Amino acid sequence: MIPYKHEPFTDFSIEENRTKLQEGLKTVKSYLGKDYPLIIGGERIMTDEKKESYNPAEKTETIGHMSQAGQEHAQQAMDVALETFESWRKSTFEFRSDVLFKAAAIIRKRKFEFTALLVKEAGKPWKEADADTAEAIDFLEYYGRNNLKIKDGDHVESRPGEYNQFHYIPLGVGLVISPWNFAFAIMAGTTAAALVTGNTVLLKPSSRTPVVAYKFMEVLEEAGMPKGAVNFIPGSSRDIGDYLVEHKDTRFVSFTGSRDVGTRIYEKAAIVQDGQTHLKRVIAEMGGKDTIVVDSDADLELAAEAITYSAFGFSGQKCSACSRVIALEDIHDELLAKVVEKTKQLKVGNPEADVNVGPVIDDASLEKIQKYIEIGKSEGKLETGGTTENDTGHFVHPTIFSGLRHDDRIMQEEVFGPVVGFATAKDFDQAIEYANATDYGLTGAVITQNREHIEQARRDFMVGNLYFNRGCTAAIVGYQPFGGFKMSGTDSKAGGPDYLTLHMQGKTSSEQM
Ligand code: NAD
Ligand code: ALA
Repeated sequence: MIPYKHEPFTDFSIEENRTKLQEGLKTVKSYLGKDYPLIIGGERIMTDEKKESYNPAEKTETIGHMSQAGQEHAQQAMDVALETFESWRKSTFEFRSDVLFKAAAIIRKRKFEFTALLVKEAGKPWKEADADTAEAIDFLEYYGRNNLKIKDGDHVESRPGEYNQFHYIPLGVGLVISPWNFAFAIMAGTTAAALVTGNTVLLKPSSRTPVVAYKFMEVLEEAGMPKGAVNFIPGSSRDIGDYLVEHKDTRFVSFTGSRDVGTRIYEKAAIVQDGQTHLKRVIAEMGGKDTIVVDSDADLELAAEAITYSAFGFSGQKCSACSRVIALEDIHDELLAKVVEKTKQLKVGNPEADVNVGPVIDDASLEKIQKYIEIGKSEGKLETGGTTENDTGHFVHPTIFSGLRHDDRIMQEEVFGPVVGFATAKDFDQAIEYANATDYGLTGAVITQNREHIEQARRDFMVGNLYFNRGCTAAIVGYQPFGGFKMSGTDSKAGGPDYLTLHMQGKTSSEQM
């Protein structure tokens, strides 16, 4: 087996790659506006009620109309998943991994089409869309390999006359609920992890990006995934969200999304229902309020680059996005000036044209960001941005506030848009104290040349993903396992060595010889 290596990113300065992306866009255009069915037990079910998925950069462009599952479909999917579990759990580890490897190969061949679909359906600039597709491939390749390592179980000791074994077995039916911001990578990664470990899956993708999820279902089918192992049930959270989270036969929930929804799912899943014979497991990856700390001796050019990319990449719509900067007092003004200058150079527009900053996802998101821009204006000084356009698409200009306190609202609440706030600290101890002073604990970065400060941050900065002398986004599967502390989630490390066993239970057997 070829050792795991992450999928290389596409260099769009090369003309050939630009042409391939244009061809991908043409392919996607050829299927815009289609109706899509649910997929339950391999059967296509077209419902009367459909929800439109549209291009956030060009609101009149419909990506597709997605069928909507109601409770009867959710129950049908649960029945199929329970039945299929009896055969899927007995399939070999090799078979299940091979399906993932084949799926990765299929996606690799259609890489530019998937990237183009993300440009249109999620509004991702080329580079961001390419990284999302690459990460989906990485999850398939990485989990496929890790699954094979789990196969032989962990070593336990035996004694004379006794043969002991310890193996991991699947859990049962898992409900996978995914967000729109990594519409491909997180949706595919969480689904693949649950499946490859022998569970069957009910996949409820985000209603903003269901078409890419449907296309992934087609890939899994082509790769040989048996019917009913994964069932595709997009639908309104109101209709089927609680129903499936509370369902007595749901064995685990793998959720990625906001803190509010994740917390609610965690609570609801804890209640044991009539007829339920297990305690549900919840894997919850939630929001972030991620800080970059800039030390007195930092390379300010590097710091400014890291902040600008981490704050405004994909319009700040990443759980890992930098939304707080804590700068040491002596370098603050110079740093701020550099970040403002770089930010003013960012091109905002429709990502089909290869811009730096595309749209935000929808009206509700734009309104929420506008509200926070007003809060920012009342709490600090607007340095740049602060304006929005909502005619053809939902655009927010990259926005910087300075003169904030670390505990201002704009420095505490997840905005999920291209807005970053600056506050100062008098020394490094205080910078780490301020960096930690949020409910969240997902990512963080420290820009410093001071070895003592690196070690101090490694020990005391309470985030699941800590980076030095780089930005706080763009974790790579298998290299930087990803997941947060505190109210950012259950610290399940996606793309890490212990992620798959979260979807399994350890079984000890002991035979008298
Ligand atoms: P969201 O919480 O609104 O929705 C996430 C998913 O949950 C969607 O599929 C949605 O349909 C579903 N959902 C909503 N209500 C539900 C309910 N009552 N029952 C069941 N399902 C329900 O989040 P979003 O807007 O899609 O994504 C953005 C959020 O996700 C941000 O807070 C971001 O920080 C977070 N996020 C976290 C990570 C991470 O790894 N920690 C990664 C990506 C995004
Ligand atoms: N895994 C994504 C990142 O690191 C969210 O930015």
